[in-house]
Order: sequence, then structure tokens, then C-alpha cells
Amino acid sequence: MTESEQRGFTVWFTGLSGAGKSTIAEMLFHELQARGMKTEILDGDVVRQNLSKGLGFSKEDRDTNILRIAFVAQLLSRNGVATICCPISPYREARARAREMIGDFVEVFVHATVEEIAEHRDPKGLYKKALAGEITGFTGVDDPYEAPQNPELVLDTMVEEPVESLRNVLAKLRELGYVEEDAVMVEGDRAHSGMTDLRVTKTGHVAEGR
Ligand SMILES: Nc1ncnc2c1ncn2[C@@H]1O[C@H](COP(=O)(O)OP(=O)(O)OP(=O)(O)O)[C@@H](O)[C@H]1O
Ligand SMILES: [Mg+2]
Repeated sequence: MTESEQRGFTVWFTGLSGAGKSTIAEMLFHELQARGMKTEILDGDVVRQNLSKGLGFSKEDRDTNILRIAFVAQLLSRNGVATICCPISPYREARARAREMIGDFVEVFVHATVEEIAEHRDPKGLYKKALAGEITGFTGVDDPYEAPQNPELVLDTMVEEPVESLRNVLAKLRELGYVEEDAVMVEGDRAHSGMTDLRVTKTGHVAEGR
């Protein structure tokens, strides 16, 4: 496939903070690059530092954030870029708007429960603070998360290892005709894309855990 023949699309990861969106997005980025595809990531936390700087976490601001991400994803997708978005995107309606705008839209529900994340994956201690009422407006605790009713794919990160989730995404992309090869190509230590909020090691690789 030459570059000009690449068919653009958007993989849209949605789920609670700590569910695994950036982790899988980062792995998918390297897989798509290994296939010679043009790829970009619009990560929720990173977007909030530039494109959506100044926006807060009210429903209105969250929706504005999602529409901005969708707008950029639409431009990229229609220019043949494999676009990966990973904002929490808690509201169904905003995700539906993104789907309408983008067209070639693969919605992936990255699922883990609040209990699982709070107990086993909460290094910043945000869930404990939210559960104790010390911070408010936290998705899944005292702010809504509307799970997708009809996503292209659900990843249960409470039972899947990250690489299994990655395999499931690649298989779905192959089924939908967006990639030709769904075998995992990039193993072991991965260079950090610089496009997600995952931690970076001194050598510029993706750090384990959060
Ligand atoms: N199958 C899986 N896929 C992805 N992450 C997993 C999986 N199983 C366990 N994890 C762990 O869950 C954590 C997910 O963190 P990550 O930063 O990817 O979440 P996030 O959804 O991007 O959160 P945020 O919305 O706060 O950015 C990591 O510590 C990761 O190792
Ligand atoms: Mg993230």
C-alpha cells in the first residue's frame, strides 16, 4: 500500500481514567508505524495542555474538548492518517457527534471498574481522593460515565494483558479493512511516541505502570 492509498480512520478509545486508553494507544501507534502508516495520537491529557488549554471538567467543557478532538481527527482521517484518540469522553452524545463527523470511526470501550482501578492502579491517588470526597467532578465517582451501547470493540482490561487488548484492536482493524496484517510486530521495549501522557524512562522508552 503506498502512502497516498492509505485509507484514513480514527480509533477512538473511551473509558475511565486509568482504564488503559493511553497504554493501548501507545502500543497501537507503534504497530501502525511498523506497517508504514502515517499515524497521530490525540491523547486527552496532552490535548488539555494545548488545543483545549483552559477548559475544565463541566459537562459543557468536556463536550467542547471532545468536539475539538473530533474536529482535528476528522481533518487527519480524511487525509489518510490513522488517527488514535484517547480522551475519557464520558458522554454518549458527544461520542456520537464525533462518529458522525469522522465517518471512519472505530469506537473502543476500554473497560475497568472504579473498584479495580482505585485498588490496583491509582498511583496519583486521585481515585482515593475522589472516593473520600476531597476532589469533586471525577468521572466514575461523582461525575457520569456513559458506557458505549454499541462500540465496535470492548476491551476488558481487568482480565486482558495489554498485549491481548492490542491484539483485539488489530484484529478488529483488520476485520474492518483498515490494516492488512493483524499479527503483533513490535515486541519488547517501545520508544515513547511523545504523544501520550505515559511516563518516559531516561532512555526515552515507555515506563511500566503509571
Ligand atoms: N489490558 C490492559 N490494557 C491497558 N492497560 C492495562 C491493561 N491491563 C492493565 N493495565 C494497566 O492499567 C493502567 C492504564 O493506565 P493508562 O494511563 O493507560 O490509562 P488511561 O485510560 O489513559 O487514563 P487517563 O484517562 O487518566 O489518561 C496502566 O498501569 C496499565 O499497565
Ligand atoms: Mg491517558
